[in-house]
Amino acid sequence: LVLVLDFGGQYNQLIARRVRECNVYCEVFPHTLSIEKIKEMNPKGIIFTGGPNSVYEKDSAVCSVELLKLGIPVLGICYGSQLMAHLLDGKVATAPVSEYGKTEVAITKNDSKLFTGVSEKTICWMSHTDYIEKAPTGFTVTATTPVCPVAAMENETEKLYAVQFHPEVMHTVEGIKMLQNFVFNVCQCAGDWKMDSFVESTIQKLREKIGTGKVLCALSGGVDSSVAAVLLSKAIGKQLTCVFVDHGLLRKDESEEVEGVFGPNGHYDLNFIRVDAKERFYNKLKGVTEPEAKRKIIGEEFIRVFEEEAKKIGKVDFLGQGTIYPDVIESGLGKSAVIKSHHNVGGLPDCVDFKEIVEPLRLLFKDEVRRAGRELNIPEYLINRQPFPGPGLGIRIIGEVTEEKVKIVQEADAIYREEVAKAGVAKDLGQYFAALTNMRSVGVMGDGRTYDYAIALRAVMTSDFMTAESAQLPWEVLSIVTTRIVNEVKGVNRVLYDCTGKPPATIEFE
Ligand code: XMP
Repeated sequence: LVLVLDFGGQYNQLIARRVRECNVYCEVFPHTLSIEKIKEMNPKGIIFTGGPNSVYEKDSAVCSVELLKLGIPVLGICYGSQLMAHLLDGKVATAPVSEYGKTEVAITKNDSKLFTGVSEKTICWMSHTDYIEKAPTGFTVTATTPVCPVAAMENETEKLYAVQFHPEVMHTVEGIKMLQNFVFNVCQCAGDWKMDSFVESTIQKLREKIGTGKVLCALSGGVDSSVAAVLLSKAIGKQLTCVFVDHGLLRKDESEEVEGVFGPNGHYDLNFIRVDAKERFYNKLKGVTEPEAKRKIIGEEFIRVFEEEAKKIGKVDFLGQGTIYPDVIESGLGKSAVIKSHHNVGGLPDCVDFKEIVEPLRLLFKDEVRRAGRELNIPEYLINRQPFPGPGLGIRIIGEVTEEKVKIVQEADAIYREEVAKAGVAKDLGQYFAALTNMRSVGVMGDGRTYDYAIALRAVMTSDFMTAESAQLPWEVLSIVTTRIVNEVKGVNRVLYDCTGKPPATIEFE
């Protein structure tokens, strides 16, 4: 175990993730974690993160100087490096100029264990206003920049290392090498941790935490909720109940697929409740055309259905959620549960009686969740699912939602996905789907006039879904998809391709 002590920096989980990428287990804990607890955990190394404060501020995050005297290797990053200098007898001050962004750092101690294999001049990512003016007694300065007299320092005997820059971000070109050096050369970690160890230890921890309690989970069939449900099922079996609400706005055959995997004839030991709430949702959405109103209705109705099912089960002890780390960041630390459910299910159900939330994936990034899913033998098509919005096809049908329109968009979307997959171009796309415009136009089919809907095809490339570029799908693929849609989907006589990026458009249509 390598322990990351969180002093409020932005990249804390990224540090942990980088260490896990070295096959060394790593977890983030608040900087207030007690020395006793740390001794008990017996980590091979500790990393102090960055943070927004100056060590001189009254309320700045600190830790005990004792931590630097346990003989456990410590790496201080940014604020963490200043804190190390400050706790010992070094000097921290406001830098004459702040350094932000890519900065050339000169390594001044070539035989430093932290910089083995690192170039003498290396590009690092800086983001600081304070700096270490003077290293503490016993420390050697190991790197400098034109601004920083101490861009890195170390006390090899005490196994204390500090860097002003951020080795965890990709802009620090040799940052991964430095972190590898820390965990292997300095901390002597074995590097034999694998995702299956995460899976095993998480199952163990869930068992301990839940005991004989009952857990209720809303399962959407998306990657996160599926992996969370499988971990819980492995841990507590039938003490887990998963409620899957079919709101009638899912992709073609999706409801049956989810039931196939998680239902009574599926692969897992859990109670599965599929609620067919199509009619309820369609009724509520009748005549509603305003996008926000539609979203709200879908979100609220989801909660009502979920609550009704939960009430039938009676008191539960825990509510299981598939919150992952980016959700935690998005919503501000500590408030994740509320926001995630907001995002996906429109808020936590008030009347479900539970005492605590369990979030087994809270520390993982999406690709790590997928790796955990593979370890758990979850079918590949579930693991590689594209993101699908909580309000489902409701926001891919412009204007009023009707059962007929849902069928049209489901069929068109299934054809589109099938052909994109067949053409082998799916791997470059962040998200791609068909939407039903509310536009009808004149066409000619056979010898007759038609007046039917236009389907819009969308495909975007994105890594963070905050911005996106429209993808240039091969014309042959678009052409096959178009022919198939107008021939096979009744009610459609025109297919359009959306060439807009985000911004100015959003990925979804409403
Ligand atoms: P937009 O349309 O905002 O979408 O560019 C960005 C990403 O978020 C997904 N999305 C949602 N996901 N609940 C969700 O869980 C929602 O209400 C929701 N709205 C959009 C969208 O599919 C895309 O991946």
